[in-house]
Amino acid sequence: MKLCMIGAGYVGLVSGACFSDLGNEVICVDSDTNKINNLKNSIIPIYEPGLGELVKKNYKSGRLSFSTDLPSSIKKSNIIFICVGTPTKKNGIAADLTQIFNVSKELSHYINKFKIIITKSTVPVTTGDKVEKIISKKVKKKLFSVVSNPEFLREGEAIRDFIYPDRIVIGTQNKKTNKILKQLYSPLISKGAKYLNTSRRSAELIKYASNAFLATKITYINEIANMCEKLNVNVEDVSIGMGLDKRIGGRFLRAGPAYGGSCFPKDTRAILSTAKQIKSNLSLIKSVINSNENRTKILTERIYKILKGNLKNKKICFLGVTFKANTDDMRESSSLKMIPAILKKGALITYYDPTGEKKEFKKFKNIEFKNSIKAACVNSDLVIIHTEWNDFKSIDFKKIIKKKNFKLFDMRNIYSTEKMKADKINYFSIGR
Ligand code: UDX
Repeated sequence: MKLCMIGAGYVGLVSGACFSDLGNEVICVDSDTNKINNLKNSIIPIYEPGLGELVKKNYKSGRLSFSTDLPSSIKKSNIIFICVGTPTKKNGIAADLTQIFNVSKELSHYINKFKIIITKSTVPVTTGDKVEKIISKKVKKKLFSVVSNPEFLREGEAIRDFIYPDRIVIGTQNKKTNKILKQLYSPLISKGAKYLNTSRRSAELIKYASNAFLATKITYINEIANMCEKLNVNVEDVSIGMGLDKRIGGRFLRAGPAYGGSCFPKDTRAILSTAKQIKSNLSLIKSVINSNENRTKILTERIYKILKGNLKNKKICFLGVTFKANTDDMRESSSLKMIPAILKKGALITYYDPTGEKKEFKKFKNIEFKNSIKAACVNSDLVIIHTEWNDFKSIDFKKIIKKKNFKLFDMRNIYSTEKMKADKINYFSIGR
């Protein structure tokens, strides 16, 4: 089939490359000329394991192409995926749908034959109705169909999540449209993906309700971890014990720092905003947002406590600063709050991240990026493991750190408490 992905970002580029790898003809369109030119030279704008190879292979085969020309790309395609950003509004909690509506308006000029218009970006419930209204100002209803097909891609695992999704959710009540999309996704369905056809609004809500639930699950185990620390219980034992109950499931029960990223924080706020607009009460999600924000304060307090309340001129090393491993994404990473707070207390910070130096820290004094784990750790009083990169999983701390009585705060429970005790390392972790 001939597809057009509007927006070549985390969603559009990954989905476009994967769809082309399934044999479809895909045009990724973006208004950013620089990004499009880079993509034509296989320079990928985002860090996503395996994406570079996938783009190169399919671009070379001619199935995948890049363009800044929206009109011709729309005209050539049968299925148009809207994959533009829906960030949280500057002074509020609602999703900013400006880009969605601008693209809907623009594409309505170029619908020359029946086209399926799909919102793949995460959009609040009823957005599809508004997109349909915008397009119908210019186009007869029988010439287009607006569908919600939310993505469930995790950064760092996006290609795997696309090829092996738990479910494909298609929000449309148009039988012809549903048949076409079932055909488009048939290679994944034959690999075992569940195909769910539902109403457009249900599909929109499934996305938000799922992300808000996952954020709740993580916040839940983080609060249980706080209890474990006071009860001398290992939260990992509790997670395993809980997860053996199939109604709970073991995934997303790893205690750690506050959750971050471009989705959970944005989507929990957006669903709250929708609830407020329709006067429905989502008190649980409100408390999840507050609890997660408070978690960063709790862990920052822990850092003070580990260094006996005096951070002045103490050398603290952060291993990993992004919101999680296998990504370069700093959006809403808990390090963005922890680091300024401890700098304010007089700490001297070095950090290493496998994805390189971060512009977010350039405006601060007394923080320095180091090109290796060793260089970042060597003079530390305290090493903080902030993300669970494989690179951090077998470090010989006693060999690389000069200070005898250094401390290690493992926020991802990568190391075993027994091993750390045996190695006589002053070790702190989460919920253990
Ligand atoms: C999430 C959803 O998982 C994905 O389905 C959706 O499409 C986009 O949002 P993403 O934000 O990329 O994906 O990352 P994810 O792996 O879900 O992690 C989100 C946050 O939760 C990270 O800060 C991560 O460190 C944290 N997390 C995740 C935990 O603290 N514990 C866990 O067990 C899992």
